[in-house]
Amino acid sequence: MLDIMKLGEEVLREKCSDVTQFDDALHILIQAMYETLEEADGVGLAAPQVGVDKRFFIVSLPDGTKKEFINPKITGMSVETNPYEEGCLSLPGVYHDVVRPSKVIIEAKDANGVPFTLKASGLMARVIQHEYDHLDGVLFIDRLDEEEKNKVVRAYEKKNRKKRHR
Ligand code: NI
Repeated sequence: MLDIMKLGEEVLREKCSDVTQFDDALHILIQAMYETLEEADGVGLAAPQVGVDKRFFIVSLPDGTKKEFINPKITGMSVETNPYEEGCLSLPGVYHDVVRPSKVIIEAKDANGVPFTLKASGLMARVIQHEYDHLDGVLFIDRLDEEEKNKVVRAYEKKNRKKRHR
């Protein structure tokens, strides 16, 4: 099981660099990330969240869909947006509606370096955009207005303090 980095860790704020080796080490890391994600009961996990400053993330949806996105690029976004309540394994216990495009087109490589293009909607589109942001050091709270962001951060810090003193 991998440690999940929490708010305040520097690696969560870095702009990650491209993956260059599609080797066993990458496959082993991805497998460990899937196990970590399952244990944490999440739907997506980006490399920087496990302390690796590389451009890739994994998605695992409740319907059983599992997919890796290596060196991804979002190449299209719908004009239509929708709000959806997001959380993040790096900020456990806090949630807030975030408005994002409802559909995206993403180009990426799979774990073997084979390129693919995916048109995503619904939960997949939402998770892709959230995880993609992680690769640029952006967290969902950064997508809120200043007041909302402060409220969520304060709630997170309060929960975190309580946890440490328990
Ligand atoms: Ni997240």
